[in-house]
Amino acid sequence: MSQGIEGKVVLITGGSTGLGAETARVLAARGAKVAIAARRKQKLDDVVAAIEAKGGSARAYAMDVTDKHQVEAVAAAVVADFGRIDVLINNAGLMPIRPMAEVNTDEWDAMIDVNLKGTLYGIAAVLPRFIAQDSGHIINLSSVAGIKVFAPGGTVYSGTKFAVSAITEGLRQEVGEKIRVTAIEPGAVDSDLKLGTSGTAAETVLGFYKDAIPADSVARAIAFAIEQPADVDINAIVLRPTRQVF
Ligand SMILES: NC(=O)c1ccc[n+]([C@@H]2O[C@H](COP(=O)([O-])OP(=O)(O)OC[C@H]3O[C@@H](n4cnc5c(N)ncnc54)[C@H](OP(=O)(O)O)[C@@H]3O)[C@@H](O)[C@H]2O)c1
Repeated sequence: MSQGIEGKVVLITGGSTGLGAETARVLAARGAKVAIAARRKQKLDDVVAAIEAKGGSARAYAMDVTDKHQVEAVAAAVVADFGRIDVLINNAGLMPIRPMAEVNTDEWDAMIDVNLKGTLYGIAAVLPRFIAQDSGHIINLSSVAGIKVFAPGGTVYSGTKFAVSAITEGLRQEVGEKIRVTAIEPGAVDSDLKLGTSGTAAETVLGFYKDAIPADSVARAIAFAIEQPADVDINAIVLRPTRQVF
């Protein structure tokens, strides 16, 4: 497996905004070939244009992570376009916060479909390829809510992120001899994620984000995990705003 970041092909789900888009910019500036995938193609194209304007290499793929056939098709397209995939960043996610008592099964379904099943579909799309090439790196966006239950309001979100952290650790135990596996567990980071809460908790969520740190804090943590020598696997990185207590 090649070392460092330069020349690696990195597929990022949810690369149209927020942490995914910023990670694409940071990794491309350090010589990675970046494939970004999400539903909003125009936003992806804008990220690609900004990266190319700075001399970087990037390509956009329209994809809904809740459709495993689309995720597999994008992985195949990235291999066709770039020759291989070295790193998958499972980043697409949603966080509608709402007390359980308000029962909103559509939001529960959406979080399970995107945050949890979407992550599994990403793993499914790259794992056989990584096993065949004897190398690869899967980086899953969990959260501090994946190590501490974010209640009231974030109970189902936490459930999906606990599952992502558990799957990351289990995957490491199963395939970790050849394939690196990392969970990124951030606290409040400035992005559109907080706007996904439309219910009674909307103001509480915005208050929680008042000390949010910029998306490049997460991008730098991801770059740190990728740039390690091939025999070093950074298994988890927890980062929060210094002022954040939760
Ligand atoms: N911001 C934080 O405070 C924070 C903290 C901890 C963890 N995280 C995690 O970080 C990840 C990125 O979040 P963010 O803060 O960058 O939020 P964001 O700005 O809202 O970005 C979410 C991304 O997910 C994509 N996405 C949503 N549904 C999708 C679907 N069905 N198919 C494909 N892509 C989909 C969106 O793209 P389209 O809408 O174009 O599809 C967008 O690019 C999430 O997993 C989140 O849980 C964030």
